[in-house]
Amino acid sequence: MNPFMNKVVMLNGFFKVYGVYSKAEIALHDKRTDCWIIVKNRIFDVTSYVEEHPGGDAILTNAGSDSTEGFYGPQHPGGAFQLIEDYCIGELEK
Ligand code: HEM
Repeated sequence: MNPFMNKVVMLNGFFKVYGVYSKAEIALHDKRTDCWIIVKNRIFDVTSYVEEHPGGDAILTNAGSDSTEGFYGPQHPGGAFQLIEDYCIGELEK
């Protein structure tokens, strides 16, 4: 990935690196210990949340790939939508 596509942004009160990532790069992060997911073309590094997830390993179903359908399932009545924002690290390359 071109590092110059990254920029530092303020997100929920924290500074973080916000990047533009290709599907190929996201696919490298497909494990419990390194888990990125795509939800509506945005990228979330949920590695630190995997062990906390109330739905257990369901969060890993599409690790490293598009998890939009799973995330928008009926098991997430609302709280999850705010929570996921803490893990946003960027967006999918257009
Ligand atoms: C990516 C695909 C995901 C799948 C397939 C999935 C699946 C599930 C399932 C099956 C449950 C139900 C647990 C139960 O009540 O027995 C659940 C609950 C929950 N999940 Fe996920 N999950 C995903 C991602 C996430 C993410 C990324 C977050 C937040 C960062 C999250 C937050 C929660 C929360 C907070 C609950 C408890 C119910 C609620 O209050 O909304 N999940 N999930």
